[in-house]
Amino acid sequence: MIDLGEKFEQGLRLIVSAVAEAQQRLTLSLDPSLAQSQLEEIARLRGRPPFFRYLGCGVGRGARTLSADGRWLLDFTLGVGVHIFGHGNLDLIQTALRAAAADIVMQGNLIFNDEYGALMRTLMAHAPRTMAHCWLSVSGADANENALKLLRQKRQGRPGVIAFRGCFHGRTSAMAEITDRPDYRLGQPSTFPVRYIPFYDPRDPKSTEKSLAALRYILAQEADRMAAFVVELVQGEAGFAVAPREFFVPLFEECRRAGIPVWVDEVQTFGRVGELFATQMLDVSEYVSVITVGKILQGSAVLFSAEMKPDPGLISGTFAGATVAMAVGRRIIEKLTTEGILGPAGREKQLEKICFARLKELNRRYPEKLTEWRGVGAMVAFRVGDGSTAVTRKFLDRCFEEGLMMYYGGHEPAWVRMFLPAGVLSDEELDEAFEIIERCLAA
Ligand SMILES: Cc1ncc(COP(=O)(O)O)c(C=O)c1O
Repeated sequence: MIDLGEKFEQGLRLIVSAVAEAQQRLTLSLDPSLAQSQLEEIARLRGRPPFFRYLGCGVGRGARTLSADGRWLLDFTLGVGVHIFGHGNLDLIQTALRAAAADIVMQGNLIFNDEYGALMRTLMAHAPRTMAHCWLSVSGADANENALKLLRQKRQGRPGVIAFRGCFHGRTSAMAEITDRPDYRLGQPSTFPVRYIPFYDPRDPKSTEKSLAALRYILAQEADRMAAFVVELVQGEAGFAVAPREFFVPLFEECRRAGIPVWVDEVQTFGRVGELFATQMLDVSEYVSVITVGKILQGSAVLFSAEMKPDPGLISGTFAGATVAMAVGRRIIEKLTTEGILGPAGREKQLEKICFARLKELNRRYPEKLTEWRGVGAMVAFRVGDGSTAVTRKFLDRCFEEGLMMYYGGHEPAWVRMFLPAGVLSDEELDEAFEIIERCLAA
């Protein structure tokens, strides 16, 4: 990266200390009525109101963010899982400022600076050993589109995809066709075959058998129309549904026998399950041909084995990412892998343990109100009452009023999802969050 000399370094240190100072001030001169009118304008411009009456003022401190109307909120949404190091992280701000001094704002696949190579290098250094290459892109859906294209090419243009019930893979036309939410593709045509098999059900001892039978049936009927089997090893938008290795392996072996490549969508799991990749957590990399990542990376990428390397004309695009996002994404991988956050004794596994113990206790005290919990690492979910969307939404609104932002996933039943800012979350902040959860359950 370019060396701008001591004057630049001095300026950088001054800005970072000014940011640190602003974060320590409990109140800024914020105007709640201005925040309200700005939110109304945003709703008008989007043609749709935001989920929360929240507008960030640009100041945050760890797990907390300061909204433009002057409220400090604990953020367990992380912008749907992006900000694993919370808000206002000085290390990431410093990385961003340094990258912002580069000659270009956006980098592409034709002309790029060192951040492009450095991000790929760092990502691949920690990737499952079966992955040989990667291609950067901007959103999770972009990476998934690239994955689908290269898989179809390797399968000589076969169009179909086998997927899990409850899956979510993004909002582009093709990803909306795969995603198991018909209400997310109203008015859209079906252009290729998508066949679903049931995801793991911990309450059904025959769950693996049933999914295997469904897969075998699809392969017997239509293997010749299928390009790939796409899998979320932990289902994100379905509400952090988990499954053991023993569930996936027979399915992957069946695909291997049929010549169907396995594509693992790690857009939501990347960096969040106690390991950098859920593929590593479940030790299934030998079965996997393609992996997609996003969110925590501050951009996205498709990783693929040597055999999956596409024809040079197949994937590219103007943008590979913003210079700042690439530098910060790389720094996030470095921090995750060196600051005691991952691994069996790392912070994510600690948080999982604490959360499960707290949720179990809440279930003991409020058995009708907190009915179930699940997840892994920094992805922890629980169900409120009957899990209806209406009840869940009401609970989330109440928590927001009390100072805790969380989001939901799944659909009838819905799950409250806690995206934990594992890189910064203190035990005291987690205690405070659980106090709010308990107050709102009790209300
Ligand atoms: C598993 C999974 N795949 C793909 C996507 C799409 O990512 P993006 O919204 O960045 O396009 C998401 C987003 O939530 C996701 O959870």
